[in-house]
Order: sequence, then structure tokens, then C-alpha cells
Amino acid sequence: APAIMGRKPRVLVTRRWPAAVEAALAERFEAVFNTADTPLAPQDFRQALADFDAILPTVTDGLGQESLAIDQPRTRLLANYGVGFSHIDTASARSLGIAVTNTPDVLSECTADIAMTLMLMVARRAAEGERELRAGQWTGWRPTHLVGAKVSGKVLGIVGFGRIGQAMAQRAHHGFGMRILVQNRSPVPAEVLARYDAEQVDSLDALLPRCDFVSLHCPGGAGNRHLIDGRRLDLMKPDAFLINTARGEVINEHALAQALMFNLIGGAGLDVYDGEPRVAPVLLDCDNLVMLPHLGSATRETREAMGFRVLDNLTDFFDGREPRDRVA
Ligand code: DGY
Repeated sequence: APAIMGRKPRVLVTRRWPAAVEAALAERFEAVFNTADTPLAPQDFRQALADFDAILPTVTDGLGQESLAIDQPRTRLLANYGVGFSHIDTASARSLGIAVTNTPDVLSECTADIAMTLMLMVARRAAEGERELRAGQWTGWRPTHLVGAKVSGKVLGIVGFGRIGQAMAQRAHHGFGMRILVQNRSPVPAEVLARYDAEQVDSLDALLPRCDFVSLHCPGGAGNRHLIDGRRLDLMKPDAFLINTARGEVINEHALAQALMFNLIGGAGLDVYDGEPRVAPVLLDCDNLVMLPHLGSATRETREAMGFRVLDNLTDFFDGREPRDRVA
């Protein structure tokens, strides 16, 4: 087991984790679990930074400037459970000498599966149909009932072509015969594009008008805040669909609600929300919107794999090796 001067490192786990991972953590570390399983507040984090060698946070833990406002922390590592880390102020962490790791790869397939789920559900009006049926309002098959849009063979724009964007392309192109357009902050190697017969487009503005579906797979954070705003929603085809499994702040939700209400786009599917778990009430009134409660990585296999990936990073770090998923 890793050791600091002969003792096990003391680590704080901010939420409940799968039982197998909690057991492994407790064996190798002096692990303290937040058994209340509720998000911690900035003052809790400032205290934890003084008391623990590592903190194992998640997306529900706001580790911004207020939480990191402490001199000389005991904490040397924030080992995030999750791939996205825009809830952590990495600049403040760096200036305190705290390393940050995340959990890439292990959740790419399941997150792409949820993006596919949303795409199929919104295009085929599955949620509307389920609501109708459960309300006892289904009057039977008819040629004009809940007619949606075909998915197979359509054009899918993927914004952010990292691991999850590529897993989406794999499904959409090889499973559904979709044509893939890509927008990415840096050039994507030709051999990667070739795997999906994909074309990289110069700008988001050039991509949007060409797509029947647009799926967001870019990071969140200040740099991508409101990347999709009213002007860009206007660039989409009037029958196109927007899917977001990335981070809520990437879309201006009020502009999206307007676009959905006035049928400026065909519909949308969301797994993430700006300021979640609060959901902007205007969104709840949109029928052509499918909403899931941040389920991207929520499978037994993936949630365990994420936990063991954190454990690998922790073990490497406290054994004096460079952790494989260091992001800051
Ligand atoms: C992720 O892994 O980024 C999930 O959204 C949870 O943080």
C-alpha cells in the first residue's frame, strides 16, 4: 500500500462510490467517506484541504476559488471521479502545488450510448409517446401519429472530437450509416477522421447549417460557456436536433428554450444542465425536448471502472510515480 512516512495517506471521498471501490480504497488508504452523500460546501473543502492528503471529488463539488482559498494545504492531489473537471479551478490548484487527475477512457462508450439514446428519443418522439401512453391518451395506430425524423443516413455534426466524440462517431457512422462532420479545437489526424469517413469543418458556424443532428462533446468551463447561443441556434436547420451530454453551460438554455418553443430547430436532448441539479423552468415547457438527469456514465461497469481509475491515479501519485491521468 502507498505510504507517506510509513503511514497510509488520508483521503476524503466526497460522495458514495460503488461498494467494491470503496472497499479497495479503505484497504489501501485511510479513507474517510462522506456517508451523507450530499455535496460539500466551500468551507468543508477549506477544512478538508487542511486535513487530508488527497480529496476525491466529483462534478457536484464546486472547487472554485472560494473552496481553494487556503494557505499551505495538506492536500497534494485532487483525484476527480469523472472525466470533466471544469468544476475545479486548476489554476488555483496549481498555485497551491496541488495536482489534479481525472478518469478518461472508461466512460467514453457509455456516454456516447446516452448521446445516441437522446438522439433516437428526440428524433423518434419516444418521450412524448411514453407520456401520452402513461396518461391513457393513446388512441391507437394511425399513419399520422407521433411522426418523427429518420436518423439513419443523416448528417451528424460532432463538436469536440476527443474520446467521447469518436465513440459517438463510431456508433453513428458504423451503426446508423450517418455522415460525420467534425468541429474540433485542433486539427484531427487524417487517419482518425478516416475511421469514420468524417470531414473536419473549419468552424462551428460552418458546421451548424450542414447538420441534421449536432452532438456536443467538448469540455465545459469558461472557454466554452454559451458556445451554442441564439445566433448559433439560428444557424441550424429548422428541423435539426441538438444533443448535449457534455456540460450544461455550453448551451445558453434560455436561447435554446426560445428556439424550441418557436420551432427554430426540430428538438433537443439534454443530459446536463447549467447549474444542475436545478433545471431552468422554461425547459420543462418544451415538448420537443428530452431531458435525462446526467446519466452519461451511469452503468454498473463504468461507475466501478471510474472508481478503480481514481485508485490507480492515487496509488501512482503516493508511490511517487506520475499519475497516468494528470490534467493539472
Ligand atoms: C464526467 O465524468 O465528466 C461526468 O459528467 C461526471 O462528472
